Amino acid sequence: MSNLTEEIKRRRTFAIISHPDAGKTTLTEKLLLFGGAIHVAGAVKSHKIKKTATSDWMEIEKQRGISVATSVMGFDYGEHKINILDTPGHQDFAEDTFRTLTAVDSVIIVVDVAKGVETQTRRLMEVCRMRNTPVIIFVNKLDREGRDPFDILDELESELKINVRPLSWPINIGAKFKGVYNIYEHGLDLFTPSKQTVSERVEIDDVNSPEVDRLVGETDAAKLREDLEIIEGVYPEFDKEKYLRGELAPVFFGSALNTFGVKELLDCFVEIAPQPQPIQAEERVVKPEEEGFSGFVFKIHANMDPNHRSCIAFVKICSGKFERNAPYKHIRLQKQLRFAAPTAFMAQKKSIVDEAYPGDIVGIPDTGNFKIGDTLTSGEQLHFKGLPSFSPEMFKYLENADPMKQKQLDKGIAQLMDEGVAQMFVNQFNNRKIIGTVGQLQFEVIQYRLLHEYGAQCRWEPLHMFKACWIESDDEVALEAFKKRKHQFMAKDREGRDVFLADSSYVLQMAQTDFPKIRFHFSSEF
Ligand code: G4P
Repeated sequence: MSNLTEEIKRRRTFAIISHPDAGKTTLTEKLLLFGGAIHVAGAVKSHKIKKTATSDWMEIEKQRGISVATSVMGFDYGEHKINILDTPGHQDFAEDTFRTLTAVDSVIIVVDVAKGVETQTRRLMEVCRMRNTPVIIFVNKLDREGRDPFDILDELESELKINVRPLSWPINIGAKFKGVYNIYEHGLDLFTPSKQTVSERVEIDDVNSPEVDRLVGETDAAKLREDLEIIEGVYPEFDKEKYLRGELAPVFFGSALNTFGVKELLDCFVEIAPQPQPIQAEERVVKPEEEGFSGFVFKIHANMDPNHRSCIAFVKICSGKFERNAPYKHIRLQKQLRFAAPTAFMAQKKSIVDEAYPGDIVGIPDTGNFKIGDTLTSGEQLHFKGLPSFSPEMFKYLENADPMKQKQLDKGIAQLMDEGVAQMFVNQFNNRKIIGTVGQLQFEVIQYRLLHEYGAQCRWEPLHMFKACWIESDDEVALEAFKKRKHQFMAKDREGRDVFLADSSYVLQMAQTDFPKIRFHFSSEF
């Protein structure tokens, strides 16, 4: 096997997603502990940004700073190289999370056993489903009182719309939690509620052996056997192929805080989770093993220092070997570029790398060459797709509050949009600029950054709007008729695509009924 094939085979690039507070940060940290990437629990945690609903400039700045440091965490685990891509906890940055999901090959979803499936988890799962991303579910906080595990499984199936298969099973819960039975590897993991150590593992060949009664007590042993029988009866055998196709999610139970069930999750993860997968470009499918290098920018991070307006572009490597100082083609600009100081993210530290492989992320210092979605290759004309914009949820008109600084405002807004902070539409009727976001906080971030990084001042004016829908039709005449009728509500996105601004769900419904030949899309990729 060539070196490239081997490097690809050992890589696992994934994201952990959850509703805030389910335990994503804690789980990430425990995975890093197992990988030897950090040595004390709390290293990630101490930096954690509290998810306050109120905005606070320091918090925003802190969030930006820390998210560079923890955006990608790479470490070796056994023979595997693991890349965890961090996703922001605050729901106002959900768009960032969606984009990060385009750069991973699989996902671990954390669910709180007491709360079950929550809104953010549901939304993120929709994105995974769109892309058939393989998903493993970790049900967390078993050391606390929670719901019946069978109820949780039912809820996961109905709410996340995916088949599930438990691969471990809890023995009691809350104060009486005794451990989990590892269905996948036939072992009993006994719970020792200490926060730093790995739990004890007892190999059990047969769950009917008296050893189990001795270890967990007769009542719980009997319940476990009964539960396992139900599981075998109700859930088909775990089928790895189905998991890889995104049709079946294995479920693990544990407690991230107590480092319980985490190693089982990790061991199973490295075994079943996919290595870097082929990626669809507009022109063709690109396989990771190909000699030619290719990659795309999925995230751009602005420098914290306002006097030094440089960014880091996060490039996901899709094929071939990335090499420092090699000439690569920036497809959108049709320009050759060389990168002298690309950084790798190992063990949370950034360091300059000489080479990187598919599945890896490199950070490239940038002074305005990159936009989200840009493709880099060894020379071939390729465009990676799959970075959809979703219809924003909140809209405001952008106004210039300092007429002397129009240029700065235009430039700042353009760069912030390239970074993917929000989306901009231009109303074709009155030429006003509309900024769409997924949360209030982003408007504040934009205003703050325009002022501090570009010296421009903006003002927001209210705009009542329900959704921005990308429209298309096979019938040119019908499309023109629609645009004419709705001319006050037509806008263009930054790529020049037609967008219909629906101010209520009723208006949208009427439009859909009245214009059956028009297709309305809620994301820019269709
Ligand atoms: P997030 O990144 O998904 O938002 O969640 P995070 O890991 O920050 O965890 C949210 C809270 O849940 C934290 O408590 C964390 O300690 C706790 N937690 C995580 N895993 C478990 C678990 O297995 N069992 C129990 N009982 N709690 C767990 P916090 O009070 O918000 O933070 P802290 O004061 O403990 O730092």
